Amino acid sequence: MATPPKKLIIAIDGPVGSGKSTLARHVAEILGYVYVDTGAMYRALALKVLRHKLSPKDADAHALVDLAQDTRIDLRAEEAGQRVFLDGEDVTREIRSPEVSQAASKIAVNPGVRKVLVAEQRRAGQQGGVVMEGRDIGSVVFPDAQLKIFLTASPEVRAERRWREHEQKGDAIDLQKTLEEIRERDRRDLERSTSPLVRARDAVVVDSTAMEPEEVARLVVMLANGNATAQRAH
Ligand code: DC
Repeated sequence: MATPPKKLIIAIDGPVGSGKSTLARHVAEILGYVYVDTGAMYRALALKVLRHKLSPKDADAHALVDLAQDTRIDLRAEEAGQRVFLDGEDVTREIRSPEVSQAASKIAVNPGVRKVLVAEQRRAGQQGGVVMEGRDIGSVVFPDAQLKIFLTASPEVRAERRWREHEQKGDAIDLQKTLEEIRERDRRDLERSTSPLVRARDAVVVDSTAMEPEEVARLVVMLANGNATAQRAH
């Protein structure tokens, strides 16, 4: 009997708006893997920080780390997409506001916060059969992931995609302002000293500026299938 293909850990990293979530969701669906959106974890915690009226800016604040340790974040796959629960409350929609986006990128510079969330992410993915997306999955969370993708696209295209997403949900946001926010978040993600957004040396770089989401997903599934076969042969 043929050995079933090994269940891989697929790490997808890249800047905001590069299409990571769409790609990771697609690939997980095709391969029957679990999809983990680590940005949603930073966002859910950021929402709690805002509600507790703590400053998301304070990179060394122990209060943020205490709060992270005292927080339960669940990601549940449902027919209509992934739902995010913060201490049992469905916050799927609330965590997508521009205010939470900014706060999430501020709390993400806190090394203690990252340590707590990275431990959660490792627990969620250690069995394999997972597509995990974020900024540091291939470099820090799973440096031994069998397939690493670094997804990128021009800032203008990324801003337009974000803007369209909001428009479809009926939230009017300003395109120019979205572009500025993307540049600001890029800067913060790239410049922070703990786990900045970096391309793992063994990551496959995919520029999605001129690609349709389906094309990108097909490419990654092809790479995953080739990789699973190679793993089985060893
Ligand atoms: O992917 P996103 O926009 O939902 O992520 C929200 C913020 O969380 C983003 O500013 C960067 C941060 N983040 C991170 O630092 N590390 C991750 N693995 C995922 C997200």
